[in-house]
Amino acid sequence: MTWVQAEADLYIQTMSDNLSKIEKQRVFLAEIDECVTGLCVAAIGRYAPDYVFIQRVAVVTPARKRGAGLALMRATAESEPAHNIAGATLPDDHAAHALNAKLARSLESKVKEVPRRRFTPTDLGVGRNERHRPWTIDRPST
Ligand SMILES: CC(C)(COP(=O)(O)OP(=O)(O)OC[C@H]1O[C@@H](n2cnc3c(N)ncnc32)[C@H](O)[C@@H]1OP(=O)(O)O)[C@@H](O)C(=O)NCCC(=O)NCCS
Repeated sequence: MTWVQAEADLYIQTMSDNLSKIEKQRVFLAEIDECVTGLCVAAIGRYAPDYVFIQRVAVVTPARKRGAGLALMRATAESEPAHNIAGATLPDDHAAHALNAKLARSLESKVKEVPRRRFTPTDLGVGRNERHRPWTIDRPST
């Protein structure tokens, strides 16, 4: 995890923080030849338990644009088929917005922007003063 955080310009967390994340949350890893090349951190909402929150997705630069980001998000969605999906994305992060839209299309749904106060920062995995905008992808009704 630390290597992906360093290589993907994420905040580098201590080993004990990462271990605690693995214990308490869902962490999906992408690998090429047993080398970890991407991660997705997710959690069932503490305050919105109907949602699985995708809190972080990152792929190391040399492994990007080969489908790992989408595969990580889909693995998260597939791990909780009865849950809708939620997250928060910076307004100018075009790659992440396009990735969210592609995940939604793959689930035959759409990304819906929701008001900032819809979810708590804890569930979204963002700081209180961060500019991330929350969104949901609801499962199509059957
Ligand atoms: C965003 C990120 C995870 C995408 O990972 P990836 O493995 O390259 O993504 P994929 O190859 O699965 O791409 C799936 C779709 O995402 C979109 N996408 C990915 N990178 C993109 C880019 N640079 N610009 C525009 N759209 C992009 C495209 O719609 C793409 O589908 P396409 O290949 O049919 O065009 C990666 O760029 C990254 O780690 N960025 C830094 C961390 C970050 O910003 N994370 C998101 C917020 S937590």
